[in-house]
Amino acid sequence: MAPLLTPTADATAAADAISHATGRPSHEVTLVLGSGWSEVVTGLADPGTAVTMPVSELPGFATPSAVGHRGTVTSCLVDGVTLLSIAGRTHLYEGRGTEPVVHPAHVAAATGSRVLVLTNAAGGLRDGLAVGDLVLIRDHLNLTGRSPLTGPLFVDLVDAYRPTLRQAAADAIAASDAAAGVTDSRPGEGVYAAMPGPQYESPAEIGMLRVLGADLVGMSTVPETIAARGLGLDVVAMSLVTNLAAGVTGQPLDHTEVLAAGAAGATRLTTALRALVPAVSRV
Ligand code: 6GU
Repeated sequence: MAPLLTPTADATAAADAISHATGRPSHEVTLVLGSGWSEVVTGLADPGTAVTMPVSELPGFATPSAVGHRGTVTSCLVDGVTLLSIAGRTHLYEGRGTEPVVHPAHVAAATGSRVLVLTNAAGGLRDGLAVGDLVLIRDHLNLTGRSPLTGPLFVDLVDAYRPTLRQAAADAIAASDAAAGVTDSRPGEGVYAAMPGPQYESPAEIGMLRVLGADLVGMSTVPETIAARGLGLDVVAMSLVTNLAAGVTGQPLDHTEVLAAGAAGATRLTTALRALVPAVSRV
C-alpha cells in the first residue's frame, strides 16, 4: 500500500543537509536512541565512518531538554550498512506538540530508510522482568491522549512492530550475547504502554496498566511508531528495563537510576545493536 503520509518539508531539508554533510545520499536504517542508550552511539560505527552533527544545525529538531538526551545525529556504517542514529528525541511532556516528537520518523523516511529502530528506557510491569532486560515491543497501548496524525489518515497498526523484524532482532541479540559468553539471554517481547508523563505513574495507575495488559511503561516510541507506519516504514522497537514500575518494589523512582541502568549495560547494548542493524536491513 502506498504511504498515507509524506515527510514534512523540515524532514526533507534535514535529510538534504545530512546528505550534504556526510556525502551519503541515503541511509538504509535509522535508529533513535532513548534515555540511557546514548552511550551506544560512540561504539556503533565501523571505525572511521562516523560523522556527527548537533541537532541545532538541522531543521525541525527541538533542542533537547531532558537530562540524558544528547541532541546529536550521527551518520555511519555498521558492517557496511548505512545508519543514521538520532540521540535526543523530543517527548510529548516538553509541550511542543507532536511534530518535533515524530520528526525522527519523518527524517528516516526522507533519508530513504526502510527500517526505523526505536529504543527507549522503560519501567517493567510484568512479573519476571528485571532491571537490565531488553524487551522487544510486540504491540502498544497509546495512552498519551494524542496522535501525531490529523486528517483522514486511517493508519493500520496490526503488526506495526513487524514480526519478521522482531525475529531477526531477537536472533541478532541472542547471537551477539552468545559470542560474549552470555547465554539464555534471548530478549522477550512485551506490550508497551505510552503515558504522557513527565511524572511517573502512581502505584494505582501501574495496577491499572497491568489490568490493561501492559508489560512495559514509558513516555515515548508510540507516536514515532504511528507516524512511521503512516510513512510506510517498518518499525522495530526495544525497551531497556531501567527500573521496576511504581509499587512493584515499594521503592521510589528516580530519573538518575533510569540513566544509570543504561550506562551499566552500554557495552552489551552496543554489541547487540551492531548485530541488529545489519540483520534488520536484510529482512
Ligand atoms: Cl516507571 N514510567 C514511565 N512513564 N516512564 C518510565 C518509567 C516508568 N521508567 C522508565 N521510564
